[in-house]
Amino acid sequence: MSKVVITYGTFDMFHVGHLKLLQRLSEMADRVIVAVSTDEFNLGKGKKTLIPYEQRAQIVESIKYVDLVIPEESWEQKLQDVKKYDVDIFAIGEDWKGKFDFLSDLCEVRYLERTKDISTTELKRSLKNFLSIPQEDLRQAFEVLELLRRDLE
Ligand code: CTP
Repeated sequence: MSKVVITYGTFDMFHVGHLKLLQRLSEMADRVIVAVSTDEFNLGKGKKTLIPYEQRAQIVESIKYVDLVIPEESWEQKLQDVKKYDVDIFAIGEDWKGKFDFLSDLCEVRYLERTKDISTTELKRSLKNFLSIPQEDLRQAFEVLELLRRDLE
């Protein structure tokens, strides 16, 4: 019988850590279901996303390792989802270690190692730092880059 794995996450500013997680899920089951958290659910957690739900869901849906995307709208839905989709494995990054052990009566629960040195929080921090550079400094930097480019031509 085919195996089903499910995961939950925001997947904002999709990056290689997300990709590797989805790839690993596809290696452990025949069908990968991803519950992408909605903007409203994130706001409830005090998390503001840069990319709106529709686009995050569309990106995750287009990944070849993913078979189905559903919205994550509440903390409680996991129990229903696991039953509804006949889930064999619930898997999520180790940042959630121990948090979903209550599902182990219904399916296998696995916490996966995160990809090092990348996260949405880090990307947001870099973007914020970049945007805080004074415009005049940026203008000068681009002028230097333009001169270098011309030198190379
Ligand atoms: N993930 C991972 N490796 C990373 C980043 C994320 O394996 N470097 C996993 C998380 O553990 C989670 C899934 O990807 O199971 C979705 O994570 P999400 O919270 O959307 O991404 P983060 O980059 O961790 O975002 P944030 O910094 O906002 O927590």
